[in-house]
Amino acid sequence: MKEFEARIAEFVGVKHCIAMCNATIALEIAARALGLHGEVIVPSFTFIATAHALQWQEITPVFCDVDPTTHNLDPAKVEAMITPRTTGIMGVHVWGRPCAIEALDEISQRRGLKLMFDAAHAFGNSYKGRMIGNFGAVEVFSFHATKFFNTFEGGAVVTNDDELAAKIRLMTNFGFTGHDMVIYVGTNGKMSEISAAMGLTGLESLEDVIAANRRNYGAYKAGLQGIPGLQLITYDETERNNYQYVIVEVDESAAGVSRDDLVRILHAENVLARRYFYPGCHEMEPYRSYFPHAGLLLPETERLTQRVMSLPTGTAVGPEEIGVVCQIVRFVVAHSAEVRERLDLSELRSEIVLPIPPFVSKGR
Ligand SMILES: Cc1ncc(COP(=O)(O)O)c(C=O)c1O
Repeated sequence: MKEFEARIAEFVGVKHCIAMCNATIALEIAARALGLHGEVIVPSFTFIATAHALQWQEITPVFCDVDPTTHNLDPAKVEAMITPRTTGIMGVHVWGRPCAIEALDEISQRRGLKLMFDAAHAFGNSYKGRMIGNFGAVEVFSFHATKFFNTFEGGAVVTNDDELAAKIRLMTNFGFTGHDMVIYVGTNGKMSEISAAMGLTGLESLEDVIAANRRNYGAYKAGLQGIPGLQLITYDETERNNYQYVIVEVDESAAGVSRDDLVRILHAENVLARRYFYPGCHEMEPYRSYFPHAGLLLPETERLTQRVMSLPTGTAVGPEEIGVVCQIVRFVVAHSAEVRERLDLSELRSEIVLPIPPFVSKGR
């Protein structure tokens, strides 16, 4: 594990990496070490763990709307969510695309708040030439099996702050310093040695996996080109990107088919498309009951949760399979009027004769 931590710290260019059993526990420990309490501003357009990591320790996640283009926290709206109880901001680099880091940093400094990032999607990415992991007080990576780089289950907190790193390390290992001395309250958040070994092995093929993801992204870009109502999200090509998410926004009014129906049709064709993040955190419990009207302040989040889908990628799919996925999507949009008429989509496969054979997607 020590070797794994050293390799991650070197790769990211940070002083400290504390490897953990998963990113959720890492977020909890990081928030606690930062002294967050009261309210913390987070996006609702994220995986539920971002909010739960706060709620678990009785910190209220205050959901803030996102920018429709970047899908990340909208700094202009963050400011409006600050109350006397706010102690921090937890940005999420959704799809690995960096948050508005400078703007969030400026707000947190001016308003005396702590800033941390959920970088679960962003391992291996950079912002203005600096690796993600160097921003805010701490950043948290996920190395879960669904991520392009994984340790089966795993995560890490990275920081350049010596004092914070020491505190986080104590908290992760029961507060132990040395063999017999406990000097702090802690939990057990350690990464297992077998996960660390998996991570060290994975690091060897990291660049190959990124190259495959990049190739796949390019294949989708070419294959989806010109389909009305479909927009593939872009990555800043001047930065390092892991391209682990192929994210498409479906505009029903132009595509003639809704995101949900498109996903159902793709599933009928054995393509594992996913609705993401659906529903938004504010629509899940306990937040749905605590803040039943949160959606009124989250129009862009609500819009995105109805439009966004992810398509299969990773090393198990290649341009050939992606070509088929794109043909299915193109066909469905081209025949959207006919598709809309079919009320029972489960019968679609047998009734609409697609020009291509079904296949089993091996994507995530
Ligand atoms: C944005 C985000 N935060 C946190 C997590 C939690 O990561 P883990 O599964 O390692 O606990 C995930 C997992 O997918 C995620 O996507």
